[in-house]
Amino acid sequence: MKFETYIQKSKENCANIYGLKPEEIPFLKVSLTTTQLEARKRQFEPIRIILQQFMQKLLVYTSETPTLIVATDGEGYVLDIHGDQQINEIVEVLGITKGVRYAEKDVGTNSISLALTYEEPIQLIGNDHYHHYFKELACFSAPFSYGEEKGTLSLMTTKEHATHFYLGLLSSAVDAIEREIKVQLQNERFHLMNQVLMNATPLGIVMTNQFGEIQEMNESAERITGWLETESIGKDIEMIPELESFIRQVLNDQSKLENIEVIFSQGEKACLLDVTPLFDQLNQFIGVFAQFRDMQSYYDLQKRVIQSEKLSAIGKLGAGFAHEIRNPLTSIIGLTQLMNELPDEKQRGNRKIIMSELERMRHLVDQFVMLGKVQVSQKKPENLHNIIQDTVCLMKSYARTHQVTLHFEPAISNPILSIDGSQIKQVLINFIKNAIEAQPDGGNVRISLFPNTSAMTVKIIDAGHGMSPQMLDQLGSPFMSTKEDGLGMGLAISLDLIKAHQGTYTIHSTEGEGTMVEFTLPL
Ligand SMILES: Nc1ncnc2c1ncn2[C@@H]1O[C@H](COP(=O)(O)OP(=O)(O)OP(=O)(O)O)[C@@H](O)[C@H]1O
Ligand SMILES: [Mg+2]
Repeated sequence: MKFETYIQKSKENCANIYGLKPEEIPFLKVSLTTTQLEARKRQFEPIRIILQQFMQKLLVYTSETPTLIVATDGEGYVLDIHGDQQINEIVEVLGITKGVRYAEKDVGTNSISLALTYEEPIQLIGNDHYHHYFKELACFSAPFSYGEEKGTLSLMTTKEHATHFYLGLLSSAVDAIEREIKVQLQNERFHLMNQVLMNATPLGIVMTNQFGEIQEMNESAERITGWLETESIGKDIEMIPELESFIRQVLNDQSKLENIEVIFSQGEKACLLDVTPLFDQLNQFIGVFAQFRDMQSYYDLQKRVIQSEKLSAIGKLGAGFAHEIRNPLTSIIGLTQLMNELPDEKQRGNRKIIMSELERMRHLVDQFVMLGKVQVSQKKPENLHNIIQDTVCLMKSYARTHQVTLHFEPAISNPILSIDGSQIKQVLINFIKNAIEAQPDGGNVRISLFPNTSAMTVKIIDAGHGMSPQMLDQLGSPFMSTKEDGLGMGLAISLDLIKAHQGTYTIHSTEGEGTMVEFTLPL
């Protein structure tokens, strides 16, 4: 019924508006130049490929029937034609070639124009056409859309071979084509997104197949490793020696590796590496995914912050330190003045005291000066007991200004550790400083050392105001401080330094009761 209305209306247009004569033989007009046609074809490229596959297949199935299959764009321009010999005569008479346009004003009522106008599949059989010349033909058209673009897929045969089945066939073909195109577009989008994500990330990414051959490498990986993607794809992972052993391990074990420190010789970049095994949908192992982040700038920043923390600690310790120096100085000056008035053996006794006071001062000044120096992280055999003792000595005056007494219980045995002494001193200063500052009304801080066969544990215990569970949760986040003049960097740095020594730590704290910080360094 609907078809009839469309057809009726079109025929009226042909007669009244376009002034076409039904008895004339219509001829399609070539309206596109070769370049224009090529441009349009390119616009439809992905869908044309699918349409062509379909057109060829359909022709095979309809080989007994004279069939012409045409694909047009949204304005009715023919982009592709497939047909068999039997229908060639009509093709010639009508002038159907690529680039001609099916327009109602030229060829009268036709299925392509109607399908485009009403956006639904249309069939015209025999006299449904306006021109008598078409009375032996049957035409079927189904419209499709492709992104912003529209078009039709049409089939022409003789009236005697016409069957409604063709219209259904075309419609379901167009549906399937549209679905496939959608999937293709989606895949393209995923691919594009993948590319953007891969290359926008500062993470270096390298993927290999299950044989260890490089399959993917992003721009950051190029920058960090110094290899170009083009020279790496398909090559064995041995070409990146910094990654090779870890990737081989995951290729063998198929289990994940995380946070491995790797230094790439290219630019001496320190990175943290994760290597993950990849499995397909059937859970078959298909390769590995390695990602590494350049930590160099973080380490550089950390170094700078450590330095500024040191300077700030020195500033805070300075007042107490001056006090500490003044006391022995006063006694030295007093004793020296007295010297001349005293008999010889008394003088000797005083000289001894003066010497020991001077020794103590020199040691303190040495420690203080060392603290301020920029030190490159260097692990070497050190005696942890002595390091704690030195630090406690250094902190004593700061503790005294807070009415806090520091107690250090010497350990029974005293093993040597491979550590960066100045970094561990920094850790101790931060923990002891916090323990002192947690007791504004004075108190005690107990520091003890527990050596065992594989590690050494240091405990710092205070009976200060302690921390709430929420506070404990956030501990170690930089700039988290409850103190008026606190930077909130002390713990962040200390915990990082302990990790850098492959050490572990625990912090127990109860509000109103006190805090125990415990860290362990491997032997
Ligand atoms: N022993 C402790 N007892 C109670 N609270 C503590 C203790 N140690 C740390 N805290 C809490 O953790 C916060 C963070 O400590 P952190 O050492 O990182 O920074 P800070 O001491 O505030 O400043 P600074 O940079 O000068 O060390 C402190 O402000 C304090 O609230
Ligand atoms: Mg602190």
